[in-house]
Amino acid sequence: MKNRVFHLLILLLLQALASTAQKSGEQIFTTTCVACHSIGKGKVVGPDLVNVGERRSQSWLIRFIRSSQAMVKNGDAVAVKLFNEFNKIPMPDQALSDIEIKSVLTYIKSKSKPATSSGTSKIAGKTVNPVTVNKPKSTGVKQDAVKRVTAWDTSSIVIHSKKMDGPIQAKDISAVSWEQAEAVVVPVSPQQITYPNLPVASISDLKVKSLYFGNWVAFLITWADSTRDVFVDADLFCDQLAVQLPVDGSSIPSYMMGNSGGKVHIIHWKGIWQEDCERGFRDVLDAHPNLWVDVYPFQEGELDRSKRIYAKDITAEHIVESQSFNNLPGTYSKNPVSSIMRKEPVEEANATGFGTLATQETQQAKGWGKWENNQWTVCLVIPVNTGNINKAKFTEITKVSFAVWNGSKQNIGGRKHYSSWVDLTLK
Ligand code: HEC
Repeated sequence: MKNRVFHLLILLLLQALASTAQKSGEQIFTTTCVACHSIGKGKVVGPDLVNVGERRSQSWLIRFIRSSQAMVKNGDAVAVKLFNEFNKIPMPDQALSDIEIKSVLTYIKSKSKPATSSGTSKIAGKTVNPVTVNKPKSTGVKQDAVKRVTAWDTSSIVIHSKKMDGPIQAKDISAVSWEQAEAVVVPVSPQQITYPNLPVASISDLKVKSLYFGNWVAFLITWADSTRDVFVDADLFCDQLAVQLPVDGSSIPSYMMGNSGGKVHIIHWKGIWQEDCERGFRDVLDAHPNLWVDVYPFQEGELDRSKRIYAKDITAEHIVESQSFNNLPGTYSKNPVSSIMRKEPVEEANATGFGTLATQETQQAKGWGKWENNQWTVCLVIPVNTGNINKAKFTEITKVSFAVWNGSKQNIGGRKHYSSWVDLTLK
């Protein structure tokens, strides 16, 4: 008898666990799918899902939602056609059970009005999003422009970049010229693309100002963050910020890292690089002072044993011998991550879709970041219209989007807070 009660309890417990782990169709849609799909409001990054249950069978939808790329690779004609139509932007695999996928499909059906076809609006078009977690806070700046705006539809926001009559210095964050620039609030999304998700955003918006001079456009960006995270260790990440611009101003790439045929220019500021610039080269011993190392073999060229210089006394200036570089191939091949004498806290990169981010050969952008009173202020000065095929080209209205990482809140890589495209005009 006792045994049976015990089994029953276990069974009830398992059921309770299963039901808490399972999310409703609406929850899944509004936290995971909404970044790329609307129901009846047009194309976003992926197709409008209105009445999708009428166009495709349920078993096809379950397989596609779980892994669309597996179907593309297996040559499923519909999946291949969709993939090509959507500029080869891969839909990320969804770790959902059959029951969860069916509940999303039921939710999509319940939100599908009698069939109207509206799959023609542009990427980053006028899609109004039901999720309201990112309502801009009242900050007293440009409120009307951000009234109904969410991170996935920032297309009504306009940043007016103001013309300067001299160069803009990234390090001069408190320059008076910034007082003339208008501040615009840009909401950023919670993170629901990369697992594990972070559905509650720890940063909800950025305050953005812009100035330009000649072939340089500058942004001064501030956001609230109660911790200055400028260090990387196991499971410890740093604060970061990135600005994204289309390389060819005449077409609009996907705001999610561009797409094949739609290259983006990304300017990426990293807290740990900022610290490198301010404090100089730091080594394992700076992170773990109690670690004992006698000498590093690759520094021997510079070591005078009779003077007893130990690894802890080594600075970047000691690593100059060609034999040192035999053991530091990253530094030798100028991998920006392995730099031991960093001058700029920013990296310029390009992307044409997820997983394609690559550093640029010519690094020209300048940047500087300062953390004060629970807030980061980062200035980026970016080369544009230089004729370099990897740099942004400005048109009358240029698109720009933003991403921000909160290191102490497990933000890293795709686990970031981002906006969709915002208009930027030069005046
Ligand atoms: C990062 C963007 C992204 C996310 C997030 C995303 N999708 Fe997609 N989805 C796409 C793209 C892009 C396509 C077009 C096919 C392709 O390019 O692979 C697509 C296609 C589809 C299709 C096929 C539509 C048709 O017309 O047959 C369905 C169904 C779908 N997605 C459902 C979902 C569901 C449900 C979720 C949430 C659980 C989701 N998607 C999340 C980008 C996304």
